[in-house]
Amino acid sequence: QSSSKVVVSRGNPLARLMIIGEAPGASEDALGKPFVGRSGKILDSLLQDVGIDPCKDVFICNALKCRPPNNRRPTKRELVSSLPWLKQQIKLVDPWVIALAGSTAVDVVLGLKDRISILRGVWQFWEGRMVMPLFHPSYLLRNPSKVEGSPFFLTLGDLLEVQNRLKGLQEADTMKISNVDMGFKS
Ligand code: URA
Repeated sequence: QSSSKVVVSRGNPLARLMIIGEAPGASEDALGKPFVGRSGKILDSLLQDVGIDPCKDVFICNALKCRPPNNRRPTKRELVSSLPWLKQQIKLVDPWVIALAGSTAVDVVLGLKDRISILRGVWQFWEGRMVMPLFHPSYLLRNPSKVEGSPFFLTLGDLLEVQNRLKGLQEADTMKISNVDMGFKS
């Protein structure tokens, strides 16, 4: 009931969007990839709903790289020991936007300890990147209602916000390139 392998990532390492979860569970440990169990299915369907391709448009990883015994919450000490790997992933992928799934990832990256229901949906700026806290997909599994105002509904809105921001940043980047082509300073 513990970790059999290190779970590094899935998705595209060149993506402009990075999603960081908490820690691998049993399915992730078995397959060696993050978010491939029930939470992952919800995450992928939400991403697709807002036009984000889970294979092409996003790099997905966790704050903790190994499954904690019996799926308990990661300890502070475990999270601190995984942090250099997470920081290196962020540095290498160099995403424009980071989405933090759940309060553990929000605490690890931003050091914010407020409830996720307060933090979600509010943009943060961290080390030159836009950061969006989200409900964790496992919370959506436990609260499956999709009515207006439900966690599911709010998360869809938050991801739409992420997608719009990515499009805006992409447009600005393209303009910068074409201005350089035409000899303008950006
Ligand atoms: N929950 C997470 O936070 N990460 C996973 O990879 C799977 C479930």
